[in-house]
Amino acid sequence: MPNAPKIEIRGIDRKFRKRGTNEDFCALSGFSLTVREGEFAAVVGPSGCGKSTLLDILVGLAKADGGEVLIDGKPIRGPSLDRGIVLQGYALFPWRSVRKNIEFGLEIKRVPKKERGAASDRFIRLVGLEGFENHYPYELSGGMQQRVAIARALAYDPEVLLMDEPFAAVDAQTRETMQDELLSIWEKTGKTVIFVTHSIEEAVGLADRVAVVSKSPGRIKEVVDVNLPRPRRVSQVRNTTDFSIITHRVWELLQDKELAPRNAGAPAVDVGEKILDGAVI
Ligand SMILES: Nc1ncnc2c1ncn2[C@@H]1O[C@H](COP(=O)(O)OP(=O)(O)OP(=O)(O)O)[C@@H](O)[C@H]1O
Ligand SMILES: [Mg+2]
Repeated sequence: MPNAPKIEIRGIDRKFRKRGTNEDFCALSGFSLTVREGEFAAVVGPSGCGKSTLLDILVGLAKADGGEVLIDGKPIRGPSLDRGIVLQGYALFPWRSVRKNIEFGLEIKRVPKKERGAASDRFIRLVGLEGFENHYPYELSGGMQQRVAIARALAYDPEVLLMDEPFAAVDAQTRETMQDELLSIWEKTGKTVIFVTHSIEEAVGLADRVAVVSKSPGRIKEVVDVNLPRPRRVSQVRNTTDFSIITHRVWELLQDKELAPRNAGAPAVDVGEKILDGAVI
């Protein structure tokens, strides 16, 4: 039997006032998506289509103007430690060391000091930051800061992980390691994940389903099933035919025919071609 719905996004709208006018701008319009407990869902879509806005609403930092969002059947009432976030910026506390950043959620949860230390040790190792425990964010590269943000979100063991382009700033090799680490953590813990990315390969490599969002105002264009085997490692599935077919489907959905009429008569892309390797949007 399929798992129960964990996150139900039902027809949400989100409007912003256009600067210096009385007009509203619609960032999300009638956006609906249900993510089941333990599911790994990726969200892809053009820049500005409302992906980060969606995550702000799921985190509880912003409210939808219409529609509703339920978690475990209940409306979101604000931020909660049940939902871990890794945002597009790193959003680390600049006055806290790497270790103290990672322990933040555990302090709020009143986890005893010794356990906090053990947990932060584990996650520092996991993201490969041994030796940097006492560094401050300004002493780290962007990719290292991002790794601290991921460790911080994982350390307090939330049921839901909301990730906004978490690996965008890390180098290709670290990115691959972290993708596989994330999959292995997810396989072991059964967390529900919503993962926003600009990389089609990353979305297909990681997720059970890829939600493709239309250009602004954002709404779901299609949700693509990724029926690749589990447990899975991105590096292992990347060269399979099924991977290419699914990647190509997502890529097709992201093509905006209205915006690119000159491509209307272009020949179909051969999915075996290198053109899809590392395709980003
Ligand atoms: N606080 C805000 N005030 C006004 N407009 C906003 C605000 N936040 C977002 N927007 C607008 O809403 C739209 C969606 O923004 P959002 O950041 O959600 O896009 P995105 O899909 O995450 O883009 P990207 O892929 O570039 O990160 C954009 O046009 C943006 O300018
Ligand atoms: Mg964004």
